[in-house]
Amino acid sequence: MTQLVSEALYNELVAFRHLVHQNPELSGQEFETTKRLTAALKALDIKIIQTKLPTGVIAEIGDDTKGPTIALRADIDALPIEEKTNLPYASVNQGVMHACGHDFHQTSLLGAAKILKAQEASLNGRVRLIFQHAEEIHTGAAEVIEDGHLADVQAIIGFHNNPAFKAGEIGIKPNGIMAAVDQFYVKIKGVGSHAADPHLGRDTIVTLTQIIAQLQTIIARNVSPRDAVVLSVTHIEAGNTWNVLPDEGFFEGTVRSFDQAARVLVKKRFYEIVEHLAEAYQVEAEITWILGPNVTNNDPKLTEIVFQETSKFADVFVPPASNAGEDFATFQEQVPGVFAFIGTNGAENAPGWHHSDFTVDDTALPFAVEYYVSNAKRLLDELQS
Ligand code: NI
Repeated sequence: MTQLVSEALYNELVAFRHLVHQNPELSGQEFETTKRLTAALKALDIKIIQTKLPTGVIAEIGDDTKGPTIALRADIDALPIEEKTNLPYASVNQGVMHACGHDFHQTSLLGAAKILKAQEASLNGRVRLIFQHAEEIHTGAAEVIEDGHLADVQAIIGFHNNPAFKAGEIGIKPNGIMAAVDQFYVKIKGVGSHAADPHLGRDTIVTLTQIIAQLQTIIARNVSPRDAVVLSVTHIEAGNTWNVLPDEGFFEGTVRSFDQAARVLVKKRFYEIVEHLAEAYQVEAEITWILGPNVTNNDPKLTEIVFQETSKFADVFVPPASNAGEDFATFQEQVPGVFAFIGTNGAENAPGWHHSDFTVDDTALPFAVEYYVSNAKRLLDELQS
């Protein structure tokens, strides 16, 4: 509990989160989630904005003739993971789970909405609530922007739960807090042959393994040791039996970075290594490169304000950046914003994001609610023109 969140509201929010957790929906298919949130906001007499978005909810509190518009964002989608927590409110949707805690995010924003609505007359401006769909597939933020909901926003605030930290701990840092995400897929076309006659073919498997081994030299020998960059090959497939050399195969994976020059360099060297090794082994290579979200880049000036404001009710510290990605970054390309890590576990070996036994501590809810409420009000005051 915090001063702002009463025991009654806390109990209400815990029940709501458990209901959301029990009924997770995949990215872009958050239909019941959208209905539930819309009904809850309407029950609070909060204005719902009509959108062209298939799922997700945009709502508003306050009056833009009295000051700026500040956006508060929570994502609402779940993951294609079979839950193994054994919680009494575990997912009833087979193969779908709130394994990234977006149930916690949407519940926190709903709690903040209730408090802000009660204080509406005294708000120095307008707060836009963005319950965002499809974060996990990195398309939701861009669609919200395309539908026009950021055009008149002066600043945006968001957070991700973080099981590495305890309830009551909040990590806030300027600049990059989550990584830029690149995704790659490489198809190798060789020439198949009998395993006994490799000289009659062009070996796909030898080429794949050579390329994958060499790709790590980009990190070890091209990227500056001062830049944090990760290159992971996560999936490889070729062949289906012991005595045939396959004629094709593929591998895929991801690059995570914080520095734009390093991001460009890694992609350039990746293409050079794949293409030249393919040529050396006389096979064909086809590279597909997918740009994911940019760095989740916290505005230094706003970060200082949010850090100070949040320190009034939580244990605030500068966290290490995460190599995971966030499409909140897409909002931050349009308007300055701050993205924090709100502690939700803190146990040693606490299961991380996207694990089938991932859980969040409900007692962190009041801190997340207060993070939204107090920073929205503070920024409304700070950004008065
Ligand atoms: Ni997430």
